[in-house]
Amino acid sequence: MKHLLKLQDWSVEEINEVLNLADQLKYEKKNGIEHHLLKGKTLGMIFQKSSTRTRVSFEVGMYDLGGSALFLSSRDLQIGRGEPVEDTARVLSRYLDAIMIRTFAQEEVEALAQYGSIPIINGLTDYCHPCQVLADLMTIREHKGSLKGRKLCFIGDGNNMANSLIVGGIKTGMSVTIACPKEYQPDAKLMKWAEENGNFVCTDNVLEGASGADVLYTDVWASMGQEGEAEKRKLAFAGFQINDSVMSVAKSDAMVQHCLPAHREEEITTKVFEEHATEIFDEAENRLHAQKAVLVKCLLGK
Ligand code: CP
Ligand code: NVA
Repeated sequence: MKHLLKLQDWSVEEINEVLNLADQLKYEKKNGIEHHLLKGKTLGMIFQKSSTRTRVSFEVGMYDLGGSALFLSSRDLQIGRGEPVEDTARVLSRYLDAIMIRTFAQEEVEALAQYGSIPIINGLTDYCHPCQVLADLMTIREHKGSLKGRKLCFIGDGNNMANSLIVGGIKTGMSVTIACPKEYQPDAKLMKWAEENGNFVCTDNVLEGASGADVLYTDVWASMGQEGEAEKRKLAFAGFQINDSVMSVAKSDAMVQHCLPAHREEEITTKVFEEHATEIFDEAENRLHAQKAVLVKCLLGK
């Protein structure tokens, strides 16, 4: 049994295995080859926040793999009325084969794993978004041929995406730069780890950060749960945007990634978004293939 609570917990070999399996599952799906590796298995999907990609990719993924998925909104579960996560974990472990959870606190995901007896997959917390980054690495590798030595620059908020990109990028040998305002840097412990284990820079100079990048990545300035800070953040993040000036200092064949949903004319201009739409929607598609690989790895230990 294997959990995906955060990418730090996975070795480079495990990350590479999942990326390879995701490529294989994508190829097979495109060629009409069925792979019912999870026949008879049921995934519970707990959502305390909204989702389009995560929900649909996991649900379709389970279906493709011969299993089934249950959408469990926290508004309807007793967890939403205060039933402890420790009890929810032990109850759901008696019915399900795995749980995917999207919530606020990383501690809640860790508690599910501690008290439950089935694999737990983190579908996003305020701290990290490992499933998204596996799909991102898959997409970058698909477009660039390799990850090692490539420069990834994330521009914007030092949020859950920035945290997971630091770990995924450094582990796979990429050089990672975060360009963000000083007050909105990623997790301090993760940045220290990245500095000690790879090529990592955090700067508030966007053009310096983006210089020579192979991949430019951005995400919303106000994440789910921070809606009340949206106006304040618009001021703080002005200039932390992927636009033509930023593209002009990156490599001439640089690709653009966005986990979506996107706020056009905030973290990315409409022009750059549309010019790089193929790469961005390949990334969204790859959530399906990457999530299937994660499910196989966690449920079958493959
Ligand atoms: N990128 C991502 O996780 O999208 P959703 O919020 O739609 O799941
Ligand atoms: N940082 C964003 C990512 C959405 C997929 C959020 O947490 O809302």
